[in-house]
Amino acid sequence: MAAISTRQKAEQLIERIHKDQLLAPKTILFGRGKLDQLGELVFPLAWGGQTAVIITGLRSAQKSGLTDRIETLLTRFTVKGIRTAAVHREPTVEMVAKGVELARPAKPKLVISAGGGSVIDFGKAIAAMLTNEGSVEEYLEGVGTRDKLQNPPLPHIAIPTVAGTGAEMTKNAVIQSPEKGYKKSLRDDSLVPTAALVDPLLMLGVAPHTTASGGMDAITQLIESCLTMKRRRETTDLAKEGLRLMRQSLALAYEDAENIAAREQIALASMLSGVCLANAGLAMAHGIAAALGALHEVPHGLACGILLPHTLRYNRSACETQMADALAAFLNQDRATRSTIDEGIEAIEGLNRWLQIPADLKYLGLSAEDIDRIARAAGGTSMSANPIPMTPEKTREFLQTIA
Ligand SMILES: [Fe+2]
Repeated sequence: MAAISTRQKAEQLIERIHKDQLLAPKTILFGRGKLDQLGELVFPLAWGGQTAVIITGLRSAQKSGLTDRIETLLTRFTVKGIRTAAVHREPTVEMVAKGVELARPAKPKLVISAGGGSVIDFGKAIAAMLTNEGSVEEYLEGVGTRDKLQNPPLPHIAIPTVAGTGAEMTKNAVIQSPEKGYKKSLRDDSLVPTAALVDPLLMLGVAPHTTASGGMDAITQLIESCLTMKRRRETTDLAKEGLRLMRQSLALAYEDAENIAAREQIALASMLSGVCLANAGLAMAHGIAAALGALHEVPHGLACGILLPHTLRYNRSACETQMADALAAFLNQDRATRSTIDEGIEAIEGLNRWLQIPADLKYLGLSAEDIDRIARAAGGTSMSANPIPMTPEKTREFLQTIA
């Protein structure tokens, strides 16, 4: 039987995501050149004379002319685009407030975000805060006092231009407060974008270090979703598909920014990693990565890549079967053998070396006090649903072995 194309594979997997009733965008378009179909997504959501908020990244979208292309595609449907501030890092509480203030007078009906994970997260926060009262901070997990969004967010079309976070498929937006030293999630099922448009052509030319950290973020999300206490068969199957694709293509995309076949595969794997995390949650590498990001500005994907082999060894005894199963997929083995876990972790370490990701946290020069603060800041469901449920004390002991 002839091998199926990545696009055909994507179509089959999207069908499965919807058939299994996993939490995901209602419409998912995947494939080269799909941006041209943006109008089809916009049409049922906004029409003549209405306004869409367009959110893009500072570098990529504006330089490449993507923002102009989106505006032109919108005018075909006589929908007017307005731009908010461009995003170049994880959105802050203040940025969300400013974005809402800027967009509100135009009474927008739709939000379109095109960029990396931070841009899409910003889109989710803007879509939510345009229909809900107060500051986004009041709704943040572990920070705010309000439980839930009272009103559904505005419809939101997410267009990723970098593979990694899978933010186009997820129900949370990471918001930070540099003054208060936190990175927390705005989380609600209704934050899943209405539609995701994944066009690998928009991902050509992504810088090697961004490709590397994005790829390791997705790999970590795929593996952790198979191990967490909230794991489920449907997402494990998707994660294994994603892991095969990543092993095949991440190094190729890193070496050659214009390799479209590789970009397409990692875009699909990244999208799958988002579905997995939204439906099964994650584990300790993500809990600690959030603390490292908030306290020491370690980029998220880089932190994930550094932590993953260590957290796998740490968790091994608590989830050997599931870990072997996930790593067998990463190694492209039909079924796990007794040496799969060792080989899989070594393969991840080898990939990290290839991608120039440090082997541990020693380069940060953390003091005992720093480690203590990171251990206390690493919380949330990624830690409590880890195969070995984590406490600050256990996290501190773990960190001491790699810092
Ligand atoms: Fe992540």
